Amino acid sequence: MSSTPNVDILIESYDVQNDPILDEHYKSIENALWQEIENYGDDTNNYGSVMANHLQRTSAIGAEFIKTLGFSEHAAQNFYDANLLHDLGKTHHNYDPHIWHTPHRPTAEEREEKREHTRLGVELVDLAITKLSDELQTHPHIQVIHNLQLLHHERVDGTGYEGIKGDRLSRIVKAICIIDAYDGDMIRRSHQPAKRTPEEALKRLKEGQKYQGAFDEVILEQFIDFMLGNA
Ligand SMILES: [Fe+2]
Ligand SMILES: [Fe+2]
Repeated sequence: MSSTPNVDILIESYDVQNDPILDEHYKSIENALWQEIENYGDDTNNYGSVMANHLQRTSAIGAEFIKTLGFSEHAAQNFYDANLLHDLGKTHHNYDPHIWHTPHRPTAEEREEKREHTRLGVELVDLAITKLSDELQTHPHIQVIHNLQLLHHERVDGTGYEGIKGDRLSRIVKAICIIDAYDGDMIRRSHQPAKRTPEEALKRLKEGQKYQGAFDEVILEQFIDFMLGNA
């Protein structure tokens, strides 16, 4: 995968709803990947719908939020679509779905394993489109999807999964890292049954020990203002 700073430019360079290369066949492949997400887990749990809801919420919030950062309407739509696959790697057969819902806080080893979902997501998309044209495989939309998959757990201080720091991360990536943490913190987990309110989650992004130095301060302030204004 190429460098990261281009996502802000890539996402403006096409329109997912109106691009002849992103044809019906491609859309059906994207849809099949989405089905994998919705059907994730087994009959005894609702892991698929928890993940699908998280992806839809982060897409919806992100699409609106990036418009307030100056991105266009079609960039927002591109974001909505591409971001739906950011956690696809969790559906990879390498994982036992229960690793995401341990009754205890994840151990260091479990955390290490879970981190692989970013790279495995890229792999699953590549595998799904491997027989399609070069034009499609190198399309900016695919690059945006890859970037959101690989980089949505980055931290501007370099403590994220790939260790990419500061302004080497594009604004779109900085934004999804914040939105993903915000939404993830409100999901009820077996080891953390109390659900946080949006206000608590926003406060945690800013003041929580876990997130000190993690996010772009300007974009975080913009996000908090955006969320409070929309509350
Ligand atoms: Fe993730
Ligand atoms: Fe996520």
